[in-house]
Amino acid sequence: MKLLVIGSGGREHAIAWRLAQSPRISKIYVAPGNAGTSSEKGIENVLLHETDDLIDFAISKNIDMTIVGPEAPLSEGIVDAFKAKGLMIFGPVAAAAQLESSKDFAKQFMANHNIPTAEYSTFIEPEAAHNYISAKGAPIVVKADGLAAGKGVVVAMTEQEAHEAVDMMLVKNGMGVAGAKVVIEEFLVGEEASFIVMIDGEHILPLATSQDHKRLLNDDQGPNTGGMGAYSPAPVVTPELHAKAIKQVIEPVLDGMKKAGTPFVGFLYAGLMIAPDQSIKVLEFNCRLGDPETQPIMMRLKSDLVTLIEHALMGTLDQVESVWDRRTALGIVLAAKGYPMSPRKGEIIKISTENNSDVHIFHAGTTFVDDQLVTSGGRVLCVTALGENAAQARDLALKTLNDISFPDKQYRTDIGHRANKN
Ligand code: AMP
Ligand code: GLY
Repeated sequence: MKLLVIGSGGREHAIAWRLAQSPRISKIYVAPGNAGTSSEKGIENVLLHETDDLIDFAISKNIDMTIVGPEAPLSEGIVDAFKAKGLMIFGPVAAAAQLESSKDFAKQFMANHNIPTAEYSTFIEPEAAHNYISAKGAPIVVKADGLAAGKGVVVAMTEQEAHEAVDMMLVKNGMGVAGAKVVIEEFLVGEEASFIVMIDGEHILPLATSQDHKRLLNDDQGPNTGGMGAYSPAPVVTPELHAKAIKQVIEPVLDGMKKAGTPFVGFLYAGLMIAPDQSIKVLEFNCRLGDPETQPIMMRLKSDLVTLIEHALMGTLDQVESVWDRRTALGIVLAAKGYPMSPRKGEIIKISTENNSDVHIFHAGTTFVDDQLVTSGGRVLCVTALGENAAQARDLALKTLNDISFPDKQYRTDIGHRANKN
């Protein structure tokens, strides 16, 4: 079989790497990929971005299945376009991907289907938004409605911060069209977990649980990022909580999307806030795998990913099981100087690690310039290791990243710190 993976991040490297291990695969193309994907055996990058070009490529190369990594092409309807040409592609159609591409859509959907989430209101008029903030008080959370690459959420600890966020989005147009509408919601306390499943329109196959670390610095300090590290499993998701998340969150999405005539097919990611009383509320939906959660999840997946996706596309996910390495996988992101505000690019990267099957270095913002590996984005690499527990996996990842150098690399040394508390 020949597959096409769309995207260029650490998530796509991990997906392609895992798919490439299937004995059923002869070739994997990644569009556009990164230096890591092009260095893997059996994987080749293709420098294509536009949907029409990707469709032409899939037809000319007889691609059996396409897997979409990031949210942007999903929200723009890449799945609809491939399907219209009779091509096999895994991901939700644009109408279903609105669960991620519009926070207002997601909140209304949750309200309509009794999915637990923070109390909220949606605004396009600044004055009404300011009045709501004054009435509710702080802390309070202001979210741009549209896709904002992880930068559209302001967790305001003071009313003033919330008012400023509203002015930035609704008055000064600071987030562009994504911020022309805002959702303002209740501040929730608890512990977050990433709950990711595969859905075939009818059945659910849960993936291993995981937890992301969104702040730049140790002890969850500093600015929000796309994610500085993740580990799997997340012990905070007990079997009881797992069952609750399926019943209260995932099943209603499946039923609601079916009723709307847009059955959900693809990876569905529910960002959950778990309160001290073990009740859960949905912080966000993503209609794709998480980055960097995918890196540890793929390290632990023992089942053949090609077969799982094939079943998802045939509507027979109820006929397969997923098998996981019982160990913990933990990924530490190495980010460029200046990330997340203005990452410096073009730095030479040197890697001198020894081969170890319990570690994999997934690439994100990397490229080759004249055969030299250089940085090309904010999140550069994600060193992912397996261990008997989170601490052991972290030690191995930290030891490995000592053998990786580029100027002023930033990383956290405390990824997985919550794993031991549960
Ligand atoms: P989102 O993109 O909606 O998941 O928001 C990004 C991050 O902001 C989440 O991972 C949380 O850490 C935080 N966040 C979002 N919504 C809330 C909320 N209602 N209460 C507290 N923190 C939140
Ligand atoms: N790691 C969070 C995300 O992928 O949205």
